[in-house]
Amino acid sequence: MRIIRVDNYEEMSKKAASMVASQMILKHDSVLGLATGDTPIGMYKELIKIYNDKEIDFSDVKTFNLDEYYGLSDDNHESYHYYMMNNLFKYVNMKSENINILSGVTDNIEEECSNYDEKIKRSGGIDIQILGIGVNGHIGFNEPSVNFEAGTHLVELDKKTIESNSRFFKSMDEVPKSALSMGIKTIMQSKVIVLLANGEAKAEAIYKTVKGKICPEVPASILQLHNNVNIIVDEAAAKLL
Ligand code: F6R
Repeated sequence: MRIIRVDNYEEMSKKAASMVASQMILKHDSVLGLATGDTPIGMYKELIKIYNDKEIDFSDVKTFNLDEYYGLSDDNHESYHYYMMNNLFKYVNMKSENINILSGVTDNIEEECSNYDEKIKRSGGIDIQILGIGVNGHIGFNEPSVNFEAGTHLVELDKKTIESNSRFFKSMDEVPKSALSMGIKTIMQSKVIVLLANGEAKAEAIYKTVKGKICPEVPASILQLHNNVNIIVDEAAAKLL
């Protein structure tokens, strides 16, 4: 694991965007694995700047998002479809057919998930996977007690995740209790992984990910077994390292 310590959120976002941009410069038809949540918003803003400076081109790029809430349609403002459109895709020249996000309203979950893994494989695999991390150590929506062998699947969200996600919803009842998520197996097959973490709330999860034992209770700890993981952490998130 390569630990990249930075002073603050802005520096974390810039470093992550530079890594994605370099990947795109090296391979015009790169396959990007993308995350949502608060953490990567700054990185997407930086990528849009780099795109506007004409240093990168998204026309041949393919993207696969990590996850989507089960039960939310693409146009729901809390869906990850909506997030991606409004934080990145509408500002760059991505082709809509190259954007892949799991459907939260599929009536055949199994098929949706196995097709997703199949499509990632057919695209040549994910060149660079961006990850955030939950306070409970989840990556994607692979929650504690995860099955490390699983591909993309439906997950029941952990209590901590539901609580933490409730900040985006009007009431607790509206917070989705399950999601479709790339599995650990899928994530681990990515060629390069970049995990971003900022703020003190992530310090314990980062400590366990980097220094703890590899166990299903800390899903991100499995990353210790990947040969190209870069963890960009600000001072607060690196506090316990
Ligand atoms: C989002 C995702 C989640 C988040 C994690 C951190 O696509 O897969 O694992 O990365 O919950 O969320 P934030 O960044 O909001 O703290």
